[in-house]
Amino acid sequence: MTTAVRWLSGITIALVLIQAVLIGQGLFLGDPSRTALHGWIGNITFLGAVVLAGLCVMGVRRGELSRPALGLSVLVVILTVAQIGLGYSGRGGGMPAALHIPNGVLIATLLAALLVVSFWPSASADRTRS
Ligand code: HEM
Repeated sequence: MTTAVRWLSGITIALVLIQAVLIGQGLFLGDPSRTALHGWIGNITFLGAVVLAGLCVMGVRRGELSRPALGLSVLVVILTVAQIGLGYSGRGGGMPAALHIPNGVLIATLLAALLVVSFWPSASADRTRS
């Protein structure tokens, strides 16, 4: 479970990074297909976030992951839902688009925190040791 959380956190961070690359190309190299691909990868990112949260629920229940992992993964799902809404409603610019960019950075940061937390020993592992 922990290994799956580590891999999926890393893969989802990479997807967000790829999205930043694609949107840069879509907007500044004038290739609209890159913007559409950005949106599609955004939807895959959402799926990754949901699976990640499910894995964290199971990992915490089994005592393999510490509780903060669950909080972080749920937060990532909520922010990713908001991110998709902001992305589609921010097509014409304005406040949704202005919020979409920092929210993308926040999502990547929280995923990195989740990756770090997945290396923490869980409470049950501590009990076993003492
Ligand atoms: C979890 C990460 C992300 C998700 C789920 C996401 C999702 C989306 C979606 C669904 C759209 C609408 C696409 C379309 O019009 O077909 C969009 C647009 C956009 N995204 Fe993201 N995005 C993410 C990360 C980012 C990041 C990191 C950046 C910038 C560094 C970014 C910048 C933009 C911009 C500027 C647009 C508007 C493009 C336009 O003018 O049409 N996004 N995003």
